[in-house]
Amino acid sequence: MSQRSRSRALALAAALTALGLLAGGCSDVGGGVRGTPGASGLRDPLFPKLGNGGYDVGHYGLTLAYDPASGRLDGTVEITARATQDLSAFNLDLAGLTVGGATVDGAPAAYNRAGNELTLRPHEEIHEGREFRATVTYTGVPEPLTDADGSKEGWMRTADGAVAVGEPAGSMTWFPGNHHPSDKAAYDLTLTVPAGLEALSNGVRTARRTEADGRVTTVWHTAEPMASYLATVAIGRYATGTGTALGSVPVLTAAAPVAKASAALRAQIPELLARQVKRFGPYPFSATGAIVTEDGTLGYALETQGRPIFPAGSFDRPTLVHEQAHQWFGDSVTPASWRDIWLNEGFATYAEWLYGEEYEHVPASTRFAEAFDQDANWAFPPAAPPTAENLFDPPVYQRGAMVLHQLRGAVGDRVFDEILRGWAAKYRHANATTDDFTAYAESVSGRDLGTLWDVWLYGEGKPPKP
Ligand code: TRP
Ligand code: ZN
Repeated sequence: MSQRSRSRALALAAALTALGLLAGGCSDVGGGVRGTPGASGLRDPLFPKLGNGGYDVGHYGLTLAYDPASGRLDGTVEITARATQDLSAFNLDLAGLTVGGATVDGAPAAYNRAGNELTLRPHEEIHEGREFRATVTYTGVPEPLTDADGSKEGWMRTADGAVAVGEPAGSMTWFPGNHHPSDKAAYDLTLTVPAGLEALSNGVRTARRTEADGRVTTVWHTAEPMASYLATVAIGRYATGTGTALGSVPVLTAAAPVAKASAALRAQIPELLARQVKRFGPYPFSATGAIVTEDGTLGYALETQGRPIFPAGSFDRPTLVHEQAHQWFGDSVTPASWRDIWLNEGFATYAEWLYGEEYEHVPASTRFAEAFDQDANWAFPPAAPPTAENLFDPPVYQRGAMVLHQLRGAVGDRVFDEILRGWAAKYRHANATTDDFTAYAESVSGRDLGTLWDVWLYGEGKPPKP
């Protein structure tokens, strides 16, 4: 409905309501428009229930207090969102924890929980296009999720604190939200922990204060849109270091006691980032760094926005290059659905191959040939991981990188570089699909690359060795 006819309909409905002519039971105050509940999932091809429909989050304000001794988290989330339909109710994703109360635009809202869905029913319906503010207070001992592939994510306790990550779904273990990569938002996070512990997160550290009871509060600001799977928290006895990269980007690194030796590589962050800027274009965020945590808790490194997180044992140059490359490919240009995960992992893997060419004199063609010969890389086409269990399988990484190497061979180095940089620029801070990429590569190169995609990106089997 157009804005004009919509407001006319509203005026008419209001007049009818005033005359008592509208059917009984129409209890909404908005003038007779009947909202419906927002969808409880976004029908992601691999995670159909993840995320929620009917609204678009612009900002998360998170206030968390954590007690490592008991494992208890006390949280308040304040979500600023815009309704994309007339809403009678809407959902947030939340796993575990106990909800203490909810409000919408300051008025208490009814809430209900079923599985990982938290439904809020506002006192008044929310009209399409309207901005609203929802708050939820919650408490409990967060439990990590075990994914289909057996890996752990979400809020995890460590020896002296906790680490929290969320790819693909674990952020719902520590805050209620719209936990699908397609709904990116700005964040402000206020973290209170016992004295003597660091409380780290994404973005820029804007304040630190000691509370009356001696606990320490740290405030983090993420201005650029962030998918919730890239949010992180690390609490514990970290040693921190600061610096500057790219002339003006603040660097903040943190290392757990076991990761003392990480100082040398942490010092190389500005140099490595500068190299990636040359290759991929302007750095998309206003902070950088790394969090190096204990081994045995987090089972893998993750490209948490601005400040990737690593178990001490996997903090090495190739992995740092990989997670830095994700800042462009994944964090800034974010997949529209989890099926498009190769846009993250194929690109970050290819960034390692490019790094190998420059720093280790290993041509990408050698990496390609090695990957080609591995049977595990041919289990499925990178553009179509069959199930949630396959999200991080070898074809996504290695065969994803092979697609890019084939593209490079077809269009030449100069055009290939232009495609990588242009892709990062065109979809900066946005979401993109595999189709967006193939269309973009064809438009930049002026070539019909249909056969290349059919064979390398979508093909079920292994083609003859090129
Ligand atoms: N996205 C991470 C990376 O490649 C890897 C990752 C996240 C992962 N969750 C995982 C790998 C689970 C294996 C299993 O940087
Ligand atoms: Zn990766």
